[in-house]
Amino acid sequence: MIELGVSRVRIIGIGCHPGQLTAESRAAIASCDYIIAADKGPGDPLLALRRAICADVGVELVAVADPPRDRDDPADYDGAVLDWHDARAAAYDSVILDRPGTVGFLVWGDPAFYDSTIRVVERLRLEYDVLPGVSALSLLAARHRVVLHEVGRPVLVTTGRRLVAEVAAGHDNLVVMLDGRLQAADLDGDWDIWWGANLGSPHEELVAGRLGDVVSSIRQARERARDADGWVMDTYLLRRRR
Ligand SMILES: C[S@@+](CC[C@H](N)C(=O)[O-])C[C@H]1O[C@@H](n2cnc3c(N)ncnc32)[C@H](O)[C@@H]1O
Repeated sequence: MIELGVSRVRIIGIGCHPGQLTAESRAAIASCDYIIAADKGPGDPLLALRRAICADVGVELVAVADPPRDRDDPADYDGAVLDWHDARAAAYDSVILDRPGTVGFLVWGDPAFYDSTIRVVERLRLEYDVLPGVSALSLLAARHRVVLHEVGRPVLVTTGRRLVAEVAAGHDNLVVMLDGRLQAADLDGDWDIWWGANLGSPHEELVAGRLGDVVSSIRQARERARDADGWVMDTYLLRRRR
């Protein structure tokens, strides 16, 4: 039981499909007085998915309009992200002040990968815990039945934005997320790729092969996934051929 007027936060990984909600995450959702979810505008598919999970578990969802992110100055990407985190924290803070209790945030995949929720919640200065979820990168490896790295070697997890610089720095085994433009297609050299879109959805798409041979199959599969689900997110493993 929470002391009157005192709140705590649970950051809950939900995987990439309702079927991937772990028993631990489900129990954590059930323990919340309500869930806060960012509302990114009409037809936000991830908000709809969070609503469905909350309805299933029987917990109220409070949608909070997501503050706009300043994308005007690409040179100050980090500054724009920090401002956006502050604005999100302020929006959540005002809801929690009005409604103290145990508050949950449902994070797509695993909160440890390319998600700002932990950083935003740190700004609230409340007690919080984190429950893991099945990440897109775990799903990618499982669907392709591969280990993400060779024996005793590393794997770098990065973004499409950073891919060219990471390869120039010598990385040759990378998982790439947040790459809507398949930046790998512009790399020099000989690479293998294991690619997946909308992993976990009934319309997930998988392509694997020598990069130069499969780029157009990937682009077509990406459009099929978007048409089928109304959204598309893709992740890939890229390894230089030896
Ligand atoms: C904001 S990050 C969130 C990552 C998430 N926290 C995780 O653990 O998977 C979004 C990126 O994750 C990847 N992603 C998320 N869901 C995916 C899915 N169902 N299939 C393929 N990639 C996905 C894509 O690279 C997408 O651009």
